[in-house]
Amino acid sequence: MSSEKSKISIIVPTFNEAGNMHPLLSRIKNALEGENYEIVIVDDSSPDKTADKALEAARELGIEGRVKVIVRNGERGLSTAVVKGLENADGDIMVVMDGDLQHPPEMIKSLISPIIKEEAEVSIGVRRGKGYQGLSFLRRIVSKAASTLSKILLPQTRNITDPMSGFFALKKEVFRRARGSLNPKGFKILLELIVKANVPREKIKEVEFVFERRRWGESKLNSREVFNFLWHLLNLNEFRILKFMLVGISGIFVNEGVLWLSYYKAGIMLELSAALGIESSILSNYLLNSIFTFKKRKAGSFIGRMARYHISTAIGVLINYATLLVLSKALHVEVLLSNLIGIFLGFVANYALSERFVWKELSGDET
Ligand code: GDD
Ligand code: MN
Repeated sequence: MSSEKSKISIIVPTFNEAGNMHPLLSRIKNALEGENYEIVIVDDSSPDKTADKALEAARELGIEGRVKVIVRNGERGLSTAVVKGLENADGDIMVVMDGDLQHPPEMIKSLISPIIKEEAEVSIGVRRGKGYQGLSFLRRIVSKAASTLSKILLPQTRNITDPMSGFFALKKEVFRRARGSLNPKGFKILLELIVKANVPREKIKEVEFVFERRRWGESKLNSREVFNFLWHLLNLNEFRILKFMLVGISGIFVNEGVLWLSYYKAGIMLELSAALGIESSILSNYLLNSIFTFKKRKAGSFIGRMARYHISTAIGVLINYATLLVLSKALHVEVLLSNLIGIFLGFVANYALSERFVWKELSGDET
């Protein structure tokens, strides 16, 4: 792919961004002077007439030949709008960016450069440190939490600095690969594209940028979108975390059952009975997780994984225990509640360690 020939399609989903259209198009025009590009705006019939404003601005700037405005009726949603744009773009490289200038058009060239150089299939604009300046403190926390959760639940996003980014570029080929299985929900289309197109980590490059403050209009991210995002993550995770929880609950019964049999029925000393109960539950959890939760992860040795599973549960048990003591003794939180929080944290740690260390190998058929 030579840089002269590759056509760049810039996909911009918009909802009520009228006041941003002129500065956006003007900055893209300046930034891409001399390049072969098109801009695809996908607007959901914004009441503020964003679509008209975009066409008007394109005419004023003399780039009407490069700007497509697609207007959807009766449909809303950032991800589906992006997919619509990708479907209607005819470039070799697709760039997805917000229409509110929080993503600087001046960064487009460096964003696509790893793709042009054939070093990457996907290039992500990532925010780091000061790069978060355009986000409120609360939004920063939400963004970090979402990113951490995604790294725990989706092995493909583990090494990505900012999987929540809405500023990224991809080869058209990646979209073609993902297309058939896309089920876009809410805001996070990047996650979906990476997971569904099975983009290997080494084909993903990151480019740092500063997320600017919004100058006009307001954010459309609300609690419904946050809920949507969580549901979306669970789907992409194929509900492994819930299966893992079910197995964990079954383990409580195994643990108690064996303890009861051993201590009350067989009269074995408590210290040994307790250990038997715990070990039985670890083994039964391990077997059930192997055939149920992580059934697609068959690479590597069964015994090796079993050893790692023991280590990973030990940490969960310690976290549970420590949380209980710290919360109840130092912070005077009620004991049962402290324990509940401890169990939850221990569980999350357990799950994370299982994803990361125990059933870590992705076998070829996992998508
Ligand atoms: N067509 C369409 N339909 N566009 C939408 C919709 C919709 O329902 N909702 C939002 N958009 C457009 C907005 O008009 C804007 O151009 C872009 O999508 C981003 O929306 P914002 O509402 O500005 O999102 P944000 O700034 O809160 O969130 C941004 O940062 C997040 C990371 O913190 C986005 O880039 C997110 O994708 C990103 O995850
Ligand atoms: Mn924004």
